[in-house]
Amino acid sequence: MKSMKNLLSKMSIPIKEEYKEFEKYFSDSLVTDVKLINSVVKYITKRKGKRFRPRLCLLSAKLCGEVNENTYRASSLIEMIHVATLIHDDVVDGSDIRRGWPSVNRIWKNKVAILVGDYLFSNALSKMCDIDNWDALRTLSKTAKRLSRGEIMQVQSAMSKDLSEEGYYKMVGDKTSSLISASTLIGAITATEDKNKREALCNYGEKLGTMFQMKDDLLDITGLEREIGKPTMFDLKKNMLTLPIISILSSQESHDKKRTLSTLKYLSKRNKKDKIKDMIIDMGGVEYTQDKIKQISESAIHDLDSFPDSESKKALIAAINFNSERKL
Ligand code: IPE
Ligand code: IPE
Ligand code: MG
Ligand code: MG
Repeated sequence: MKSMKNLLSKMSIPIKEEYKEFEKYFSDSLVTDVKLINSVVKYITKRKGKRFRPRLCLLSAKLCGEVNENTYRASSLIEMIHVATLIHDDVVDGSDIRRGWPSVNRIWKNKVAILVGDYLFSNALSKMCDIDNWDALRTLSKTAKRLSRGEIMQVQSAMSKDLSEEGYYKMVGDKTSSLISASTLIGAITATEDKNKREALCNYGEKLGTMFQMKDDLLDITGLEREIGKPTMFDLKKNMLTLPIISILSSQESHDKKRTLSTLKYLSKRNKKDKIKDMIIDMGGVEYTQDKIKQISESAIHDLDSFPDSESKKALIAAINFNSERKL
């Protein structure tokens, strides 16, 4: 656990002071006069999570110029949207654990989780208007649409129990890369007018986001519940097809595909997590996904080529390494 913290702190070296300022902005932006909102929000944000997106937003701004008031506003509203999606996602997935504690839906029930998630979402959008920048607002509105499309696509593919590798990337792009690339792009928008720099950071963020979800999907299979703070082997249980399994299925004929999937589901119903893990590893699903992550990592590093060397650039490269190494 300690080495994970070190990895995360590597990407925070150039933004130590800025990160502290972000924390102030973030907690101030959550205060309301509605008690129920305060209780739920305090509960979920007490466990901080990795704060990956605000760190990226601050770093991207710093890479392009200076972190300023708008960068702080943006990074805290992006984290707010992230928390809203987690609260909603746990309702959709029927998940009981988040950040190592009972999920909001488990404690307050679905009704409250949906409403507070919606509140956080709209609060973030209205705070976006305070930034008073059309490019940022356009990016965030597009992101909001992609986020909900992505979650709906996930439900759709779980219902049909069918998802191609291409469909997987599309879904991941919408449900996860969208917010991570918004973090890097909006960070850049708050610090520079330079279109090329903005575009480079947007591309970097999109790839980083894809790898981030791929790693999350790997951890669902190979991770430990006490480290990741959420249930393991949960995607299969909920019929959510992810790359490790999709890659196995895509190399099989339709008859074998059915058999593989029904064996996996059989084991899942009996909670044979180690057996499932071994089977996915033996059939090459984990290695395939790790290789893909490596490929995308290399391409994401190249997106930063046009920036001269700096501490911020190093930290953004460290973010890629953090994702490859992380166990939480
Ligand atoms: C979890 O996000 C949801 C995904 C997009 C995979 P994080 O892994 O960033 O969650 P926290 O904020 O650290 O809890
Ligand atoms: C959801 O992906 C990503 C979001 C946009 C919340 P997951 O369903 O894999 O996220 P976890 O594993 O529950 O955090
Ligand atoms: Mg989930
Ligand atoms: Mg997951």
